[in-house]
Amino acid sequence: MTASLAELARYLPHLVLRTEPGDLEHYGRDWTRRWTPAPLAIALPGSIDEVQGIVRWANAHRVAIVPSGGRTGLSGGAVAAHGELVVSFDRMNKVLGFDAVDRTLTVQPGIALQAVHEAARGHGLMYPVDFGARGSCQIGGNIATNAGGIRVIRYGNTRQWIAGLKVVTGGGELLELNRGLVKNATGYDLRHLFVGSEGTLGLVVEATLALTEPPPPCNVMLFALPAMDALMRVFGECRRRLKLEAFEFFTDRALHHVVAHGAQNPFETASPYYVVTEFHENETEALAVFEHCLESGLVTDGVIAQSDAQAAALWKLREGITESLAKYRPYKNDISVRIAVVPDFLDAMQVLLTREYPDFDVVWFGHIGDGNLHINVVKPAHVSDADFIAQCETVTKRMAAILHAHGGSISAEHGIGLVKKPYLASARSEAEIALMRGMKRVFDPHGIMNPGKLFDP
Ligand code: MLT
Ligand code: ZN
Repeated sequence: MTASLAELARYLPHLVLRTEPGDLEHYGRDWTRRWTPAPLAIALPGSIDEVQGIVRWANAHRVAIVPSGGRTGLSGGAVAAHGELVVSFDRMNKVLGFDAVDRTLTVQPGIALQAVHEAARGHGLMYPVDFGARGSCQIGGNIATNAGGIRVIRYGNTRQWIAGLKVVTGGGELLELNRGLVKNATGYDLRHLFVGSEGTLGLVVEATLALTEPPPPCNVMLFALPAMDALMRVFGECRRRLKLEAFEFFTDRALHHVVAHGAQNPFETASPYYVVTEFHENETEALAVFEHCLESGLVTDGVIAQSDAQAAALWKLREGITESLAKYRPYKNDISVRIAVVPDFLDAMQVLLTREYPDFDVVWFGHIGDGNLHINVVKPAHVSDADFIAQCETVTKRMAAILHAHGGSISAEHGIGLVKKPYLASARSEAEIALMRGMKRVFDPHGIMNPGKLFDP
């Protein structure tokens, strides 16, 4: 143990501190698996006081802090590869309170998203942000990245559901932001600065989450589609006639991988695109939409789930994609454009990918109803790891230019972290980045909070 760590242990005698190699390895990485973890130590505070104590110590010794949730992030935002102190919230994972009138749930940052869902359900309500990593990710990380997911089309991102936050800034102050108020017209809403700040301004130590009524029992339908313009027209039709909870797409390559990983393909013939959609209307109304789309040649096949088990099987075709690709450690992009621009953007990307990189196994899927597309690229067997990353970075650079031309964003919901840092300037102006740096200096004067993430120190 270094002298400064020994001092931290003396200063906070009840703080759990770990330095075993297995812990450093486990807590020093996220799902990106691209960097070799090398943190100084792992601190597992049990209280807000301990978090403040850690930040004071880190400022005194100029030790960098990496805030750590479930580390399911895909942009390297929770990687600790340069002797940082990882602050894990695994021990601060409780529900602290429920308010039936305000319909809010107050939680510690280390609670898993799924546990938040269960707690809300226990009160007859719903916390609507949802995505595949729900069992492992933590609410603090969801807030730090403004996590999106499969129900943004209806409920918005994490930001919309944050009624209040307690944060410890990089300077060590404890701030109580918005305190669950619905209306609060008192100047800058600092709460929203912390949502999506990727742990660069401070640490979220408590969150008050807004809850809502759960929807009525929903139906789930899967479509097979012949072309992207047909998909966009089906989206228009569904949005007009159905109250959508989700509208997600994937390609034949995604279907190939997810089926190879154990999911059931309900179709006999292949199609280039598929959509899974969930909505409030009953089967008769859904069938009317489906038949209209079939007669117009917009879809070629479809299935409406007849049971919860079948609905789960249809959802698995979409939600299982990330897991089915994990063993290949694909190169990931997570972009957004305005919904209306999706077909043009895809055309431009198709030209780039098929002409220049015909060997790449490119798997497109995502939240097309939000204009958010995931592009996962699987390495061809004959290309080395280093060449593959280099080629993917070249594609990303060119894609960033295409996105810029289409008014899009290089990160829709995964964040910038380390992975997309070189491309931040394609989505944010120089003036914006300068202001963001200025904000960091205000909240984190010694630059100890997650340095090197989002932008270079
Ligand atoms: C998803 O929506 O499944 C993930 O955000 C995408 C990914 O794993 O690239
Ligand atoms: Zn996603």
